[in-house]
Amino acid sequence: MMQSVVLARRPLGNPVEADFALVDAPLPEVTEGTFLTHNSFISLDAGFRNWMNEDSGDEVLPAMPLNEPVMGLVLADVIDSKHPDYAVGDKLMARFAWQTHSLSDGTDFIARLPDELEFNPSAYMGVLGDTGMSAYFGITDIAKPTADDCVLISGAGGAVGTIAGQIAKLSGARVVGIVGSQKKADWLCQTLGYDAAVLRSSETPLAEAIQAACPDGVDVFFDNVGGKTLEAAISNMNHRGRLVLCGAISGYGVTPHGPNNLFELITKELSVEGFMTHFRHDRYDEAREQLSAWLREGVIQSPEHRLSGIENVGKAFADLFAGENFGKTIVAV
Ligand SMILES: NC(=O)c1ccc[n+]([C@@H]2O[C@H](COP(=O)([O-])OP(=O)(O)OC[C@H]3O[C@@H](n4cnc5c(N)ncnc54)[C@H](OP(=O)(O)O)[C@@H]3O)[C@@H](O)[C@H]2O)c1
Repeated sequence: MMQSVVLARRPLGNPVEADFALVDAPLPEVTEGTFLTHNSFISLDAGFRNWMNEDSGDEVLPAMPLNEPVMGLVLADVIDSKHPDYAVGDKLMARFAWQTHSLSDGTDFIARLPDELEFNPSAYMGVLGDTGMSAYFGITDIAKPTADDCVLISGAGGAVGTIAGQIAKLSGARVVGIVGSQKKADWLCQTLGYDAAVLRSSETPLAEAIQAACPDGVDVFFDNVGGKTLEAAISNMNHRGRLVLCGAISGYGVTPHGPNNLFELITKELSVEGFMTHFRHDRYDEAREQLSAWLREGVIQSPEHRLSGIENVGKAFADLFAGENFGKTIVAV
């Protein structure tokens, strides 16, 4: 038997558990040119919210149809194959649906994993998966922080932010995170080595709170949130600062708020670069090797917000938007 989480209705604004439903079906038949996987972990990734809207398809994914399995990222083991390139036992990180099993013809977005996994399998969905690699590419390729920099990170307690902050610390930079609760702020500083944290929910306007935490200004802003958070960061940027745009969760499923201070990009000579980890597929092995080395040396940690059972996938996804997660959100199937 195969279980699938389908899109029961289109979320209005932030997704909630009731937007998703669990459906049972017989295991699909493996025909010539296809293979079947068992999916042991499902990764919950905020960006997939975008493709839940009607007419939201783009070059990355088509819009998700109603009552069909929800697309996501999974850790998959091939359990049956009539495909020349995939053998029983192969381990994959793949863009498959939220299902206990997936049937693929190999044309999906698939990254191969080593036969022997050195770390806990769930790490290959987090720090060694798409979100960890996003932190790696954004910080090492684009931000390139130095010990003289102040690096500000939004969504700092989430999957990307926790890793981005720890990588930035390795350069000696001062690292400050923006988070939604005092508990998460304390955790970032006491457990992950952040130097300071700013509360996005505090009474103080965000730009003022950032200024208090970054009195010498911000040299690098690594943004996972967009909108008003981006606006508040821009007003605190130093001359020739770098804005690294990774995500914009505050605008997923709602009308996004555009920053109203873009003129400061000119007057402060700021550079802005967005990126999609998806388009760096050819460098996944390099990213995984470096992140593995840091894990092995014990200089970065891989915190997880883990739930169990495919019936909890919808809740886990909603948790991302409610800020419930400390670290990578993942469901053990
Ligand atoms: N460019 C790429 O290739 C790429 C790849 C992967 C992910 N991403 C992006 O990276 C970001 C993080 O994704 P993730 O899946 O790892 O999620 P995550 O950071 O683990 O979780 C999302 C966090 O964002 C904060 N948040 C939620 N709604 C918010 C709002 N309206 N305003 C401000 N903060 C809000 C919450 O933390 P607090 O409550 O503590 O603020 C929440 O814990 C997303 O924007 C995602 O699209 C980009």
